[in-house]
Amino acid sequence: MFDNITREDANQVIDFLSPDPLPILTNSSKVKQFEAEWGKWLGTKYNVMVNSGSAANELSLLLLKYQNPKGGEVILPPMAWVSDVAAVLQNGFTPVFCDIKLENLALDIEEVKKKITEKTKAILLIHILGYNGLSDELIKICKEKNILLIEDVCESHGATHNGQRVGTFGDISNFSFYYAHHMTSIEGGMLCTNNEKYYQLFRAFRSHGMLRETTDEDFKASVLSENPSLNKDFVFLEAAHNFRSTEINAVIALNQLKYLSQQNRIRAKNLEIFLDGLNPNKYFVGFDRKGNSNYAFTLVLKDKSFNFRDRVEATLKENGVEFRRGLSGGGNQLRQPYLRKILGDIYEQYPVTDHCHHFGWYIGNYPTLPKENIPVLTELLNRV
Ligand SMILES: Cc1ncc(COP(=O)(O)O)c(C=O)c1O
Repeated sequence: MFDNITREDANQVIDFLSPDPLPILTNSSKVKQFEAEWGKWLGTKYNVMVNSGSAANELSLLLLKYQNPKGGEVILPPMAWVSDVAAVLQNGFTPVFCDIKLENLALDIEEVKKKITEKTKAILLIHILGYNGLSDELIKICKEKNILLIEDVCESHGATHNGQRVGTFGDISNFSFYYAHHMTSIEGGMLCTNNEKYYQLFRAFRSHGMLRETTDEDFKASVLSENPSLNKDFVFLEAAHNFRSTEINAVIALNQLKYLSQQNRIRAKNLEIFLDGLNPNKYFVGFDRKGNSNYAFTLVLKDKSFNFRDRVEATLKENGVEFRRGLSGGGNQLRQPYLRKILGDIYEQYPVTDHCHHFGWYIGNYPTLPKENIPVLTELLNRV
């Protein structure tokens, strides 16, 4: 990947910082403007900018805790980013892991159905590396069973389900604007929802949980009437953190958003060339490409051969191709020390995730990648 920040982005920041006196530099009009423009682009009514995708994960689960102070279970895949799991654990919920489907690298609905119990409070669906992870059945089950659907779209800005952008189907969705993602604000994230109550809570939660950040006067009055001894400026709805964004990040994000759709189209075409060029006897090419907004090329071996895997890695290294093993997030989170410590060695119970852990990689795909390099790469891989 290349650093996505452009000279044009930097010039916008310089212009923003030129006036005397300086404008407000944190969580102000530029953040608000980006939230509004992001909402127009994505199709969600309410959007709250935070300073990372991890913060968006954390606040989604904090909202679940606010609604369920006694905890419960959250279904999620072991093919995740660490902050998804951290948000579940740190908010006192029990993670219930479900394996993924190789075709879209997201929760396997058949596995999900087996794991839903009366304690299931939320399903945390992660759209991995640009693939659409949703199914109509999952959306229906969540509605029928009153389970909160949280979409983590940090790796899949612009992917669609039934022609509509993912991140608009769940009750809440999370985005990241880390500097290597589809678009960037250097560091940044967004919480998106169509639910006004959640919006009001997220406004408070990103600012230490402070009630004064909400704009719902009735809600404010009711909390204050239940807590008459408190100064109205310092009422903490939850034990929360400071996840606010600076204005500088929002200035960059506003400029980057202008190019997002155009760049996504280039990335998606690049993925087609990549997958079509691979030898299907050696590599899995049956990914569900419909609605994908590729983030990085997905390379997965058909067979479980450590010898072949090592030869693939040696070839990529020799030819200066950067790669990451484990597909997304370093692979099977259940193999990580922080989960083994509490759950033991259960990682092999998730065979698809575990296959990707050992025999899957991602390789950078970015808008300025020369097209002619892609067949060179696939030929190299096919010769291994
Ligand atoms: C699926 C997923 N969720 C959450 C995050 C966290 O985003 P951030 O790096 O902005 O904290 C990432 C990071 O890349 C991610 O891939």
